[in-house]
Amino acid sequence: MKVNKEQLKRMKRNEFVRTAIEYVDTGVVITDPELPDNPIVYTNEGFEKLSGYSTDEIIGNNCRFLQGADSDKETVAQLRSAIQNEEKIKVEIKNYKKNGEFFWNELQIYPVYFESEHQTFFVGVQQDVTKRKMAEERSEHYFEQVKRLSTPIVPIDRKVSIVPIVGHIDDERIDLILKNVSAHIQKSGDEYLIIDLSGVSHFTSELHKGVYQLHQLIKLMGAELMLTGARPDFVLEGVQADFSLSSVKSFPSVQHALITIN
Ligand SMILES: Cc1cc2nc3c(=O)[nH]c(=O)nc-3n(C[C@H](O)[C@H](O)[C@H](O)COP(=O)(O)O)c2cc1C
Repeated sequence: MKVNKEQLKRMKRNEFVRTAIEYVDTGVVITDPELPDNPIVYTNEGFEKLSGYSTDEIIGNNCRFLQGADSDKETVAQLRSAIQNEEKIKVEIKNYKKNGEFFWNELQIYPVYFESEHQTFFVGVQQDVTKRKMAEERSEHYFEQVKRLSTPIVPIDRKVSIVPIVGHIDDERIDLILKNVSAHIQKSGDEYLIIDLSGVSHFTSELHKGVYQLHQLIKLMGAELMLTGARPDFVLEGVQADFSLSSVKSFPSVQHALITIN
């Protein structure tokens, strides 16, 4: 075959790109959808390193060989549908290396038409994002802990619990307190709930509304709300508005409230 200047240029460029793909750290595979079960027909070094398998073990397999017990079924279904429809897709999926270790695979798949072959192939790009995913999972866990610790419910005796409110209160924290308190009362059958506001830095209208909602909720559940540590003007605020706290029993301190109960 005689090669003209333009073809030579293209061949050089192809070789240039192939060499680059061969040695990048990211996994790259190409699959042939015209062969039975869309097997891998090309793999680079990055994919060998990522998976722990050699080229010989990889070529000829469908990429699902990386999946295992904890690979999310919903994500696999998304992949199946994108491939069926020849659409590009990006997912994060739990995969397994040859030694059984799992890793989080940030997988991108592109349908690419290869002119030289007159057909569409799929190109998969795989990146190990385990460190980032683990850090995200840890920070979610810590955030949950902090949220839980920010609304502790302290049982005092058979019928009384205290919820000490500390720091800034916003709508999200109010929702959490309402949820936790209703679950707690249902379980414990408490008759009194003391909301202690002595650790609150700012008496805002959000807090006012939140305490009012708690009051309504607790009343509905057959228990009684007692407020301690609130500024008198805070309790009186909202008399004109829809959420008056004037019917809530308010005490200077938790001790004062407990004396009344016992
Ligand atoms: C190019 C390409 C690369 C793929 N790479 C991966 C991969 O790294 N990890 C994975 O779990 N699935 C990968 N898949 C998806 C699976 O091969 C398969 O399509 C998926 O499991 C859905 O099909 P199935 O239900 O027949 O298994 C890839 C698919 C293609 C086309």
